[in-house]
Amino acid sequence: MSQSSQVDPAKLAAARAAIALVEDGMKLGLGTGSTASIMVRELAARAQAEGLNLRCAATSRATAELAESLGLRIETLDEIGWLDLTIDGADEVDPQLHLIKGGGAAHLREKIVAAASDRMVVIADPGKVVETLGAFPLPVEVLAFGFETTRKLIRRALEALELGGRDVLQRLNGSDPVITDEGNFILDLHLMQIPDPVALARALSAIPGVVEHGLFLGMCDLAIIGREDGTVVELARDADIDADMLAHEGE
Ligand code: 5RP
Repeated sequence: MSQSSQVDPAKLAAARAAIALVEDGMKLGLGTGSTASIMVRELAARAQAEGLNLRCAATSRATAELAESLGLRIETLDEIGWLDLTIDGADEVDPQLHLIKGGGAAHLREKIVAAASDRMVVIADPGKVVETLGAFPLPVEVLAFGFETTRKLIRRALEALELGGRDVLQRLNGSDPVITDEGNFILDLHLMQIPDPVALARALSAIPGVVEHGLFLGMCDLAIIGREDGTVVELARDADIDADMLAHEGE
């Protein structure tokens, strides 16, 4: 049951390359988003064709529902305990394999699952690879309690890092607030550039109403970047990213 030609070829190539890393008996974390959904479909097809025995933890309700509908066994993270491999998408990937995640409002569960994995592999198309993080608005999951106070504290923290005056916008679905799987709100920080992701991550984590931010620092072991022609480029941490290698994709 292979996926149709309507699927983005770059995302499909990355997903297939990541699925090739899966072995019988593995405990897997399944990411969230359009690229992760393609991966889940590929995984289910391979598991069925080869009779693989896999145990999977999902990073969102949407992924759990998709995976179960395709016959994959979903258990809670606590039932499985520890994972061999998590495969997830990303909104931005920098040369150190630092990530911005949370475009799908799932970064809290995604981070918990990735942190409980021997290996985190990110799958993405070339448009996600950046020199410096921050063009994609940074998602921050915050509690509803004291929401405006938390927003003020975030603005204050940004000012201290010379990132003042940037928009800190509540994510909406139409006119309603987006509510995460954990029942929280999302603030999107329109920073344009994040010169020091480590300092920003530390500052955001120190704010009590912040549940989790979308900076994934030092968590990704391998990024598989799919290309339109069906080939992939694998980026290891600190490897030089050759922009030409990724060029002519998505043009
Ligand atoms: C969800 C995420 C996704 O992995 C990220 O938004 C990428 O999604 P897509 O593959 O649809 O571009 O972090 O919270």
